Amino acid sequence: MDRIHITGGVPLHGTIPVIGAKNAALPLMAASLLTEETLTLSNLPHLVDITTMANLLAQHGVELSMNGALPGGGCDGRVLDLCGRAVANTTAPYDLVCRMRASVLVLGPLVARFGQARVSLPGGCAIGTRPVDLHIKGLEQMGARIELNEGYIEARRSGRLKGAQIIFPQVSVGATENLLMAAVLAEGETILMNAAREPEVCDLAQCLVAMGARIEGIGTDTVRIQGVERLRGARHGVVPDRIEAGTYAVAAAITRGAIELTGTRPELMVATLTCLSECGVRVEPTDKGVRINAVDADIVGTDIMTEPYPGFPTDMQAQVMALMATARGAAMITETIFENRFMHVPELMRMGAQINIHRASSAIVRGVPRLSGAQVMATDLRASVCLVLAGLSAQGDTIVNRVYHLDRGYERLVEKLAACGAHIERIRD
Ligand code: UD1
Repeated sequence: MDRIHITGGVPLHGTIPVIGAKNAALPLMAASLLTEETLTLSNLPHLVDITTMANLLAQHGVELSMNGALPGGGCDGRVLDLCGRAVANTTAPYDLVCRMRASVLVLGPLVARFGQARVSLPGGCAIGTRPVDLHIKGLEQMGARIELNEGYIEARRSGRLKGAQIIFPQVSVGATENLLMAAVLAEGETILMNAAREPEVCDLAQCLVAMGARIEGIGTDTVRIQGVERLRGARHGVVPDRIEAGTYAVAAAITRGAIELTGTRPELMVATLTCLSECGVRVEPTDKGVRINAVDADIVGTDIMTEPYPGFPTDMQAQVMALMATARGAAMITETIFENRFMHVPELMRMGAQINIHRASSAIVRGVPRLSGAQVMATDLRASVCLVLAGLSAQGDTIVNRVYHLDRGYERLVEKLAACGAHIERIRD
């Protein structure tokens, strides 16, 4: 298994281009199941999770072709045509779903268009039990009969799904996306209340509108969908990745450097940028995005609590904890979205961080002047990148094991950081 070797202590300086969001691209790809016509997605990131979703859709019968012509010939693979004309198989098998939870996003589109779907239950994962009960209950409210058989969700409906009023007891990004995709082809009106408002959900809704869906209230917690009989093809550019951008913003802060993030939309990452400003980092808008300037900054501990959008994102919690570990004073970090999302804490402590966890959901981080390099590993994507960030600021050498987690969500991470002066390399085994 590949590892990453970092020699820390170098302030990062330079420019990092931000790619399309993985968490937007995955549901957008699943939306191709809703129509016989071609959906063209641009600004796609090159990531293992995108390949997993492409393989899943291909085995359903979606025809995929990579585009994006390069000036000298060839293609950059950032533009993907997906055509759901010949979809024949409505089963999403265990061996693909178990690799990535977001595979469950094919459930809503398959039942909506074909009246049936058999999708493996995703099972537990490193950051908690993460059930899919809200996806299932919502589809039942829309008239689907659902049974759980041999580890599979089996959904059936003769005729179109029926519009329903669905009140989510808690905000769920995935359930909102799945039911949105189901509702666009249902008969009558569906109202999703307490819906997720994440930019990735809005991106999906906007793409569905371009495909002919009738949706009101995009960006609010009450989304009204008037079902239509069929959708058409469309072209859509994936929204920039606010978590990738936030991660590199923390890289600038933790090394006391300065990085311009281009191709990003700062208005989509207000909670992260506000947190950095409160810590003492200068956040400067530029023509192309935003500049994060921490040169000579006196970074002070700042409390954060994760919340659904527009609150502070759970996917930035681990990265900010690494920053707080080197800040002046203490910070209280409270995780409210997932029940097991402090897996990075013991590894940060092996690097010299001082952290106490309270009741599994809060952590008090007492900043130390300098972390020290160590061999570390992590069990999920954001926890892994938090250890890379810690390694960039630590004294001495850090080896981050199990790099495959990073490949799921960060494109060319090593190259992007090295281009800003980081002493970082991938060791291939
Ligand atoms: C998505 C993101 C993930 C992010 C998370 C929260 C993708 C591909 N992934 O994950 O990166 O960390 O949003 O912003 O977009 N829940 C239930 N029952 C359900 C569904 C969810 O209890 O049926 C709970 C979950 O266990 C969790 C909370 O709701 O505690 C939020 O989860 P959810 O928003 O659904 O996360 P995902 O869509 O899986």
